[in-house]
Amino acid sequence: MVHRSFLAIGLVAVVPYVLATQNWSSPAHYPGKPTGAYSPEWQNYFEVTDPLENVTWPLPRNWAGSISTQTVGNANNTAFFWGFEKTNGSLTDGNSTQPWMIWLAGGPGYSSIASMLVENIGPIVVTKDSLGPNNNSWHNIADIFFVDNPVGTGYSTVGRGGFPADEDQIAADFLGFLHGLVKVFPALKTRPLHLVGESYAGRFIPYILKGYFGLAPEDRPVNFSGGKIGCSNPALSEANLFENIPIVRVIETYPQLIDYDTKMYDYLREQSHLCKFDLNLTYPQTGGKLPYTRIKKGLLPHRLPQPTRRRLTDEDDFMAELHGRWLALPEEHRRRSPEDRELARRAWMRETLGDDGEATDIGVDAKSASSSSKGKSTSTSTKSTTKTKTSSTAKATSTAIVPRNKFPGVPPFDLRPTGKINEFWGCDLRDTAMVYALNFTYPWNQLGLKFDFLDIPYTVNPISENMHPHHWMNRSSSRCPHLLLRGANVRHLIDNTTRAALHAPHNKIWRVTTTTYAWGNLANGTDPSPPSTFFLDELAANATKENVGMVWYSGNDDALTTHWSTEVVIQNTTFGGIQGFTAKPNTSWFDDEGLYAGVVRQERGWTYGLLYSAGHQTPVINPARSVAFIRDFFIGNSKVGAVDPDTGAITTQATPAGVEIPNILPDGVITGQAEVHYKTGTVTWPEATVVAWNAHVSSVLYAEATPTSTKSKTSTKTKTQSSVVASATASASTSSSAKASATATATRSVAATSSVP
Ligand SMILES: *[C@@H]1O[C@H](CO)[C@@H](O)[C@H](O)[C@H]1NC(C)=O
Ligand SMILES: *[C@@H]1O[C@H](CO)[C@@H](O)[C@H](O)[C@H]1NC(C)=O
Ligand SMILES: *[C@@H]1O[C@H](CO)[C@@H](O)[C@H](O)[C@H]1NC(C)=O
Ligand SMILES: *[C@@H]1O[C@H](CO)[C@@H](O)[C@H](O)[C@H]1NC(C)=O
Ligand SMILES: *[C@@H]1O[C@H](CO)[C@@H](O)[C@H](O)[C@H]1NC(C)=O
Ligand SMILES: *[C@@H]1O[C@H](CO)[C@@H](O)[C@H](O)[C@H]1NC(C)=O
Ligand SMILES: *[C@@H]1O[C@H](CO)[C@@H](O)[C@H](O)[C@H]1NC(C)=O
Ligand SMILES: *[C@@H]1O[C@H](CO)[C@@H](O)[C@H](O)[C@H]1NC(C)=O
Ligand SMILES: *[C@@H]1O[C@H](CO)[C@@H](O)[C@H](O)[C@H]1NC(C)=O
Ligand SMILES: *[C@@H]1O[C@H](CO)[C@@H](O)[C@H](O)[C@H]1NC(C)=O
Ligand SMILES: *[C@@H]1O[C@H](CO)[C@@H](O)[C@H](O)[C@H]1NC(C)=O
Ligand SMILES: *[C@@H]1O[C@H](CO)[C@@H](O)[C@H](O)[C@H]1NC(C)=O
Repeated sequence: MVHRSFLAIGLVAVVPYVLATQNWSSPAHYPGKPTGAYSPEWQNYFEVTDPLENVTWPLPRNWAGSISTQTVGNANNTAFFWGFEKTNGSLTDGNSTQPWMIWLAGGPGYSSIASMLVENIGPIVVTKDSLGPNNNSWHNIADIFFVDNPVGTGYSTVGRGGFPADEDQIAADFLGFLHGLVKVFPALKTRPLHLVGESYAGRFIPYILKGYFGLAPEDRPVNFSGGKIGCSNPALSEANLFENIPIVRVIETYPQLIDYDTKMYDYLREQSHLCKFDLNLTYPQTGGKLPYTRIKKGLLPHRLPQPTRRRLTDEDDFMAELHGRWLALPEEHRRRSPEDRELARRAWMRETLGDDGEATDIGVDAKSASSSSKGKSTSTSTKSTTKTKTSSTAKATSTAIVPRNKFPGVPPFDLRPTGKINEFWGCDLRDTAMVYALNFTYPWNQLGLKFDFLDIPYTVNPISENMHPHHWMNRSSSRCPHLLLRGANVRHLIDNTTRAALHAPHNKIWRVTTTTYAWGNLANGTDPSPPSTFFLDELAANATKENVGMVWYSGNDDALTTHWSTEVVIQNTTFGGIQGFTAKPNTSWFDDEGLYAGVVRQERGWTYGLLYSAGHQTPVINPARSVAFIRDFFIGNSKVGAVDPDTGAITTQATPAGVEIPNILPDGVITGQAEVHYKTGTVTWPEATVVAWNAHVSSVLYAEATPTSTKSKTSTKTKTQSSVVASATASASTSSSAKASATATATRSVAATSSVP
């Protein structure tokens, strides 16, 4: 029902909709604003003291508002922050030496406040029809700020012409904001800073640290020494490296996607090999830098609908996008038959909204879909997902299910090995696997085009089932009168006081994702800066010198910015004088409930973590595990997984009684969860299917691994010392050439086409 009315609104409104978006904004001035420069006097002004509607429990003391980014020539550029203190007085204590944190969301253009509200990071959680406290709030481990970044995002304002042109400008703006923030809370200038984010923040954060290192010590606003930078599921590299290159590993983690079809697996392995995607990591890494092959594009006329990339999350965004696309059509297309127009419109809807467009057609029931919301109820641990299994458990059988999705213009899959790159798909291997799943595999073939890369076993993004914080964050929403969200009328949740309580700007609508703002509405809205892998060696050398740690971690269930790409980046980067880790990241880590939580590795100031049973936005499914990881590996400096530089010995954690450690495949893959969630139930596959798959994959992988693995086993044990020394010397000679390539290869990045939250 809801979907139908939503559809109807779309139908009538697409053409007459007037795009009223103002593309500049400015900070607001509330009573009591100090007149002078930023100083501790501003603490009183920024402190959030007005009641926040529907927040019925005590919050820690918190501060929010706009601080100038000191952008040259753009006095209206500000960053919007919301900060929470750990204990009463901890943030305002002028003598504190405690570490503090900043969280940055990705996108680009995804509000950090939004991720705080919907991802179980901050003290407030917005769920489908309520607001509530978060027992796993990160403010429990450190004073923490959430900052909408870059300018233009969320409540961060951008003056006319003030959009950042590139990543260096974004970094400069952010450092400008920090200059102001530390005047308000002076101890922050010297307290060690941990800058953490997710996804596209993996692009922002290295640039921010590079900008910081570029400043003379006396001009640095904050102190990263003793602190860390880090990111979950970081977009560190070219998009191809996190989207296509890892595809075989994604399938090994979730063979469910291809219905455990070993033919499809062999086909993807062959294509992957032909595309030169089968990079071989060794520990220690030998053979110098890893080769990188630019993607050979397939013949798809345009990218297939990629819901997670284009998930526009409220009606304003959605209508604006549809209208924009309408305007962009050539005149003759606009005069097409009503049927053609309707087809085009529906294609846009699917692509733009990421769901719902097809939902009514395939009978996805809004009620049952939302009542299966995983955001909260199953969020505590892997254990709880089994507990909440109240309803039907379906068996996936390919014969019983009629394929529902059709892809006009896409030839049928031909999985026979040809020794050649498939002409149609090229090396767009993730699209290949996705279309295969949508076309053939239950339950994905029931979902319309609602494919979710962020959390493979959940099929549908748990966040999209939640209430949208849009209505709460904005003062009022006269432009958005239809406040129907997933079957709930959330009008009563509109709070016209939130904006004022947070000292937020008046002339800007807060959005979860502000797609049009980043990169200054430049044509294509793309990021012109190369990924940080172009200067990571140099950044790492600076970080070692200045005692700044780096922590890159991933949710095992994410197929958008997959963990494998991060492992490749690590083995391809020289830090602490050596390229990559010297020991495979396979030390088990257990969370506070004593459950298996994944693997970690730590060497020479770098930490890698792979969180078991967590997705792209790690705290959504597993809030307790995520906050424990932050507590232990950022603030707490846990030694689990650390390699002793002298002896090669690795610190381990005792395995809690009764805990089974999943099999780690020779290529480092930890097989994902057995169950796939769909509607109110779960889907499992027949045991015989799984056994046959395991036998096939093991035989393929062990056959491949045998010749080299015996060699490397002995060498890590006996030769760690000497090889470490050898590669340290080697890296000294490569560092100058790495520098050269960092400056020379500033080509436009492939990653620019994608937007990752
Ligand atoms: C913090 O401590 C002050 C006294 O130092 C007290 O007045 C205030 O109520 C406390 N606030 C909270 C949130 O506990
Ligand atoms: C630091 O502590 C001392 C002694 O308690 C106090 O006198 C001083 O005002 C404090 N400094 C700041 C900046 O709060
Ligand atoms: C939010 O607060 C309003 C009153 O301010 C109340 O009518 C409404 O029921 C509350 N909603 C929830 C979900 O608590
Ligand atoms: C949060 O913790 C409190 C006290 O331990 C508990 O009563 C409550 O149920 C927890 N809430 C959630 C959502 O887990
Ligand atoms: C800055 O904001 C003020 C107040 O909204 C506005 O009058 C002015 O035009 C803005 N300037 C720019 C450059 O955006
Ligand atoms: C704002 O939008 C107008 C019209 O779309 C455009 O001409 C102008 O350059 C934009 N301003 C900025 C700062 O992007
Ligand atoms: C490294 O530090 C130097 C200053 O010591 C600075 O000039 C350079 O830009 C920094 N580079 C990176 C990538 O951090
Ligand atoms: C990785 O190993 C496989 C199997 O041994 C081999 O076919 C492939 O060429 C190797 N890849 C690279 C980039 O060397
Ligand atoms: C490894 O690093 C080198 C230079 O630093 C770069 O040219 C190459 O593309 C990287 N390889 C991969 C797989 O990213
Ligand atoms: C999808 O499945 C249908 C029915 O089996 C088939 O006709 C079609 O060719 C398939 N599409 C692709 C891309 O394989
Ligand atoms: C906004 O606040 C005013 C007064 O506090 C109240 O009368 C009005 O109903 C509120 N509007 C909405 C949409 O909540
Ligand atoms: C926008 O995209 C088109 C085609 O993909 C490209 O030719 C053009 O250079 C891009 N423009 C900018 C500013 O990146």
